[in-house]
Amino acid sequence: MPALYMAHAHQRLPKATRIIALGRQAWNTAQYVEFVQGASIKHIEDSELHPAAWQAFLQRLEYVPLDATQAADYARLAACLTPQAQRVYYLATAPTLFTQICQHLDGAGLVDAQARVVLEKPLGHDLPSAKVINEAVARHFDEQQIYRIDHYLGKETVQNLMVLRFGNAIFEPLWRAPSIRSVQITVAESVGVGNRAGFYDQTGALRDMVQNHLLQLLCIVAMEPPISLDPDDVRDEKLKVLRSLQRLDAAAIRQHTVRGQYIAGAAQGESVCGYLDEANVPPDSQTETFVALRTQINNARWAGVPFFLRTGKRLQTRRSQIVIDFAQPPFSIFGAQPHAEHPNRLIITLQPEESIQLQMMAKIPGSGMSMKPVFLDLDLESAFAGRRADAYERLLVDVIKGRLTHFMRRDELEAAWRWVDPILQGWQSQSDKPRPYTAGTWGPAASSALMAREGCNWFEES
Ligand code: BG6
Repeated sequence: MPALYMAHAHQRLPKATRIIALGRQAWNTAQYVEFVQGASIKHIEDSELHPAAWQAFLQRLEYVPLDATQAADYARLAACLTPQAQRVYYLATAPTLFTQICQHLDGAGLVDAQARVVLEKPLGHDLPSAKVINEAVARHFDEQQIYRIDHYLGKETVQNLMVLRFGNAIFEPLWRAPSIRSVQITVAESVGVGNRAGFYDQTGALRDMVQNHLLQLLCIVAMEPPISLDPDDVRDEKLKVLRSLQRLDAAAIRQHTVRGQYIAGAAQGESVCGYLDEANVPPDSQTETFVALRTQINNARWAGVPFFLRTGKRLQTRRSQIVIDFAQPPFSIFGAQPHAEHPNRLIITLQPEESIQLQMMAKIPGSGMSMKPVFLDLDLESAFAGRRADAYERLLVDVIKGRLTHFMRRDELEAAWRWVDPILQGWQSQSDKPRPYTAGTWGPAASSALMAREGCNWFEES
């Protein structure tokens, strides 16, 4: 709703747009509007909340009670839709309902050639369940009508990564082995599981974050230049990356993956409980709230370059970063110098702030030839003043405009599960539990060791 409001307030919704909410509550539109007032307004920045725009937005809303499992309820929906209008169905429901919803929409004659459906994650919990969903949805919608949303693909800096790589000439010749020594992708969150434990405990960090967000980031970092920005040209390249990702066998899972679970600690100066003490978490849960892993991409560009991925809840800070670590000069005429092991790093920060920094070695003024790393710093927020659309706003407008480039294709989604499933299975067959880490830290020590074995370190530890 906040994203739709922002699109509305900035005139990005077509004039005649109607927003129809469907749910099991026996509400009328006035009651629903009251609910949105209470629930959504706090997620909109004060500077964006213009009373006239907000009121006009609320007037676009309508509510139709609907039990997604009852075919008869869809007739009620059909009765209130504008004939021949372009329709977007946005399914933010449990994935187990996707099949029935699509079937009932179609049964009620609501799926025409111009209809679009947006599928929210999680799209399954493993490859077989993802295939079942994909097959069921495909019985009613063509692939070109299906928008599998991954909100990381709507983030400004993620989209900017394509421009950084393919709109500049200086990086591309170096964007490969052996010029790049390692790549690290961190999506760190300071929040815990909050009130989502029921969902999260069945899911864990690998499914919740790695299977989708981190792998999508990895694809954009590693893909070959697509021949155009057409959806399939971009998605073909991402798919090749996923297919080239080295599968982790049992030995690699043991050696190259670290699972963690937070225990009581502190977040933003306040003490917080451990995962097992969160409401609705079973006391013996072995769900991971942290994952670090090492993989590599078996293709000509990346052979031998380690890719380190890491994500977790209740980490020291909220930060998403991609760090490209370039090789050292082949020979040093400066002798041993501190920090010389990582002379050049490109640090792309996606959030909380958006920036691109290039770390270079520079001479410390004075006699002698001592050096230290300094940054060429591109602060994207000051380079481009003005409003930034939120990821959901951008993606929902993309759906309305029929732009599929930043959505996942079926084969991409399945390739991601194909890579993740053996790790899940490997963990299940291991007897050890996730490693405890104190809330407010950077995760289990084993995560640093994973990198240190290859002479690398996580950026914040440099
Ligand atoms: C969601 C996950 O997809 O992404 C959440 O289900 C996670 O667990 C969220 O908190 C993180 O998104 P963002 O945009 O806050 O980094």
